[in-house]
Amino acid sequence: MMEIYQAKDYSDLSRKAANIISAQIIMKRNCVLGLATGSTPLGVYRQLIDWYQKGDLDFSDIRSVNLDEYKGISPEDPNSYSAFMKSNLFDHVNIDQSNTYIPNGLEEDSERECHRYNQIIHHLGGIDLQLLGIGQNGHIGFNEPGASFEKETHCVQLTEDTIQANSRFFSSAEKVPKYAYSTGIKNIMQSRRILLIASGENKSEALYQSLFGPVLPSVPASILQLHNHVTVVADEAALSRIRLEKLI
Ligand code: PGA
Repeated sequence: MMEIYQAKDYSDLSRKAANIISAQIIMKRNCVLGLATGSTPLGVYRQLIDWYQKGDLDFSDIRSVNLDEYKGISPEDPNSYSAFMKSNLFDHVNIDQSNTYIPNGLEEDSERECHRYNQIIHHLGGIDLQLLGIGQNGHIGFNEPGASFEKETHCVQLTEDTIQANSRFFSSAEKVPKYAYSTGIKNIMQSRRILLIASGENKSEALYQSLFGPVLPSVPASILQLHNHVTVVADEAALSRIRLEKLI
């Protein structure tokens, strides 16, 4: 089942997506959330923090696993996804940070780190709700075009497109790490529910190809068409390639 919700704009998108996450938290107080970094989830996290501060949400029993982390970067590095999650969510809610998991960018042995991270996901009993952004090239997590649909956590070499897109956070494109640990499409597809968020005209082609094009490794997010519970929340600009009658 795929539901597509059109949001008026970014703040509406953030509120709608945060509502879905908050319903998940209320229905299962110890659920496992799959979390994502990037610009798109920032408004969702701000909304969740706001509801927490108003006393409407309790994160104390929540467990979380993040999609990915740069390899070769320490969790203290401000560009690490670990630091991102702390400053944009974890430090502002009552989540027990020992129950939040992110790949360890400092582990040099890729095989060991990927195995360790997969074990964590399995021991947690899988992911109840996976939040996903989408890259302009259709990537999910760091699963770039051409990635195998069969992979679990693995070490990926970032594409030039992704390095350029992410260089806005670094002083230069050369400073962007070249490798990352990412959960694989198989981990994502095993999540019980997926919440995909997309904002802006620059995502419209990727979103259209992913939701209505053929399912192909060249468009990693297209595999989501085969998942049995995907909810898409996107703003008008991101949905501009998709005809309105396909929307809820
Ligand atoms: P963004 O990234 O939210 O920063 O656009 C999404 C992604 O690349 O997965």
